[in-house]
Amino acid sequence: MTKMKLALALLASAALPQAVLATDLEVTHWWTSGGEAAAVAEMARAFDASGDKWVDGAIAGSGGTARPIIISRILGGDPMGATQLNHGLQAQELIQAGLLQDLTEVAEAEGWKDIIKPISLLDACTFEGKIYCAPVNIHSWQWLWLSNAAFEKAGVAVPTTWDEFVAAGPALEAAGIIPLAMGQQPWQSSGAFSVMAVAIAGQDLWLTVHRDKDEAAAASPEFGKVFEAAVAARSMAAKSNVQDWNQATNLVISGAAGGQIMGDWAQGEFQLAGQVAGTDYTCLPGLGVNEVISTGGDAFYFPVNDDAEVTAAQKRLASLLVSKELQVAFNLKKGSLPIRGDVDLATANDCMKKGLEILAAGAILPSQDELLTPDAQGQIEDLMVEFWNSTTMSAADAHAKYVEIIASAE
Ligand code: GAL
Repeated sequence: MTKMKLALALLASAALPQAVLATDLEVTHWWTSGGEAAAVAEMARAFDASGDKWVDGAIAGSGGTARPIIISRILGGDPMGATQLNHGLQAQELIQAGLLQDLTEVAEAEGWKDIIKPISLLDACTFEGKIYCAPVNIHSWQWLWLSNAAFEKAGVAVPTTWDEFVAAGPALEAAGIIPLAMGQQPWQSSGAFSVMAVAIAGQDLWLTVHRDKDEAAAASPEFGKVFEAAVAARSMAAKSNVQDWNQATNLVISGAAGGQIMGDWAQGEFQLAGQVAGTDYTCLPGLGVNEVISTGGDAFYFPVNDDAEVTAAQKRLASLLVSKELQVAFNLKKGSLPIRGDVDLATANDCMKKGLEILAAGAILPSQDELLTPDAQGQIEDLMVEFWNSTTMSAADAHAKYVEIIASAE
């Protein structure tokens, strides 16, 4: 073999290690609706294109189903390569147990502190000065999604505020339309209540109750108004007999329901159905009361393991998830907002653009997941399931139980 050929062969073999180092990572998440699946496919595509292999570990059902499975696998010594969880306190016990990778080295090398906005997203990943997750999106619960066709059929104008929506209830029902779509999983009624609390009690009182765990504020008549409004909303949702959030969203997409209080992951379903924001559906941030974005959403965590190649691949995936290209490709499909301000979502729909404007204006709130422990969140979910499915639990009864939960929240 001539010297040139030998040199070329050595050069080629030197390039080989990258391809040889292609590592499989099992990635768990609960993104199984049409829109969610389309979005997570962008992550898989990008990771595969980078030379590693995304082994999809989708878990059917909601986060309430998936999180216990994910956490018990990690605690039980059967860790996945990477997993979705929500921004906030869901991984705190795993971090304290030393079971999740410290990503500080990657974060510092790539300047995450300078590019991730709002910085509260990175703060939610930080424990005792070290960074344990890669934020991937901002999902705000603070939205009411309305079917333009449903209100046209009912002969009423598309509402611009929560009160107008409630007032349109009888006309919707007379037209055979379910006024408020609501699935039956606990997190859905609990989330909807939280959005109503922000809009009706106001942001300051909502923060005093949920951030400061102020019992007197929780027991105040002003906060009590939220439960009275929830009684009205409960009757508007009485005929919504679907289970999953995206089935409820589909009631709005099809015009069978007038509206749904749901996080902006619902956008992925409208997009997949080919519906156009402003034309086919209308979005009211903050229920049309005060425009606000809550900084909920998702971050990826990486369980520790004893394989250096897996650890290297985990860090490659963490870096990829925060990258500009994937931030655009993933969030456009997911209906969420990017975790960095230096990307251009030119093709975002009108509702996403509205969310970006509100975010840029700094009208943001922490998500309830960022303020309450999973235990307190679970107690509120249990109360909301009981309340929303009851025909007898009064506003006062639900209010009193809520105060007890806040009073005992850590
Ligand atoms: C949330 C998650 C979203 C969304 C939603 C419904 O917890 O942050 O990404 O998909 O669940 O599955």
